[in-house]
Amino acid sequence: MLEARPGNPESRAGTVDRRAAVPLLRRLRSAEGLADPAPVYDELRAMGDLVPAPWGGYLVTGFEACNQVLRGRTWLVPDFAWQERQTETERWHAVATQEMSRTLSRLNAPEHTRQRHSLGNLFDRNTLLDLAPRIEADVAGLLDRLAERIRADGEADLAAVVSERLPINTVGRWLDIPPEDYAHILEMTHNQVHAQELLPTKKELAVSEAATADLRRYFTDLVRERRANPGEDVISGWIRTWDALESDPAATDRVVYQLTMFVTIASLETTATLLSSLIWSLLRSPGAWEWLRARPEHIDDAIEEALRHDPPIRLNSRVAGEDTVLSGVLVPKDTMVHVMYGAANHDPRRNPDPHTFDILRRGTHLAFGGGAHYCLGAGLARLEARILMGQLLRRFPTLRAAGAPEYAPRMVFHRVTSLRVAA
Ligand code: HEM
Repeated sequence: MLEARPGNPESRAGTVDRRAAVPLLRRLRSAEGLADPAPVYDELRAMGDLVPAPWGGYLVTGFEACNQVLRGRTWLVPDFAWQERQTETERWHAVATQEMSRTLSRLNAPEHTRQRHSLGNLFDRNTLLDLAPRIEADVAGLLDRLAERIRADGEADLAAVVSERLPINTVGRWLDIPPEDYAHILEMTHNQVHAQELLPTKKELAVSEAATADLRRYFTDLVRERRANPGEDVISGWIRTWDALESDPAATDRVVYQLTMFVTIASLETTATLLSSLIWSLLRSPGAWEWLRARPEHIDDAIEEALRHDPPIRLNSRVAGEDTVLSGVLVPKDTMVHVMYGAANHDPRRNPDPHTFDILRRGTHLAFGGGAHYCLGAGLARLEARILMGQLLRRFPTLRAAGAPEYAPRMVFHRVTSLRVAA
């Protein structure tokens, strides 16, 4: 029989008042918490590796506990069937939430395995080598624009001019999406994301629902167009793969729509936030820009440290597939837990002196998740960051921040909405 170990300090979760985390969660969403969540992570962790969430379930704060949840076979993603069982219907039965529950990140085996297998290693070495020259050229163009803006106005918004553009240009080109559609895709992505936040309001769910319908229309049409005019592009390849797996072309088109839509939206805000956070971390640390400029061989280390220090996705959810003991706490089947990637990365038991941005740390992080759902685009995001940093450091030796960044008021999908720079 499963038993929570009495006396284990981490088993305090059973006795902590569920409302105790409310002010801390409020602080995480405040301007102060968005800019620097580290003090809140410390306070949450002091309450235990598992902190009862105000709405039920647990927040998982420790690195080892988060890692265990992500990799453990007893943990599942909250899929469509789980959502259907929930009595809190406003959230879980909302159209936007249900639509996302058909996508890769919300599927469990065997369907998850089947879809993931169909994609293979999306960004293997050869694909990345093929993509790199176009990304180099694209970055050069974006940095020309940044330089122009700085010359004309004395400063420019690096988030808008560079960080938000590079991921959509890269993924758009890879999927052969017309460039004139990029702005629309970005807008739909920013609006859809509300449904994936913790406790979205009615108004946010409505915005998300409209964006979900728009995304469905856009990507369904795209797949239909590729079926009518197949080529050597990625989406046509997915249609061929799925036609061999499914007897009904309509079933293929449905899966390919879900895959294309999800891969696209999963790649955009995440990468943009990594780029802006990395640059901000370097610009705010005295001497770091010059140091890295003189040692570009450490660009990859800086990227990993930015992912650790400020992961673009701060939190993800899983549910217990069976009664499970985690950090000494008995978590009953079907209970939801929130893996706090940021708090885990700042766990001093894993990364000593965790709040310091230290390029040479060689720490460990969970920014791309772990286990069966490990991010499929990690290689591409790292490549974009590497190419951008190489050129930015060479071309802007005196780059400096012209103000603190601004953030979208969200807790799950961290988004830098503005990062003003001068040179
Ligand atoms: C810095 C940028 C990125 C970050 C921080 C990030 C982070 C993540 C995280 C945390 C997950 C969930 C993992 C889990 O549940 O354990 C994930 C899943 C995923 N990501 Fe990324 N991601 C990034 C960029 C990308 C890019 C560029 C793409 C595609 C081009 C992509 C495609 C995906 C897909 C398809 C999944 C779902 C995998 C599955 O459920 O099997 N991501 N990502």
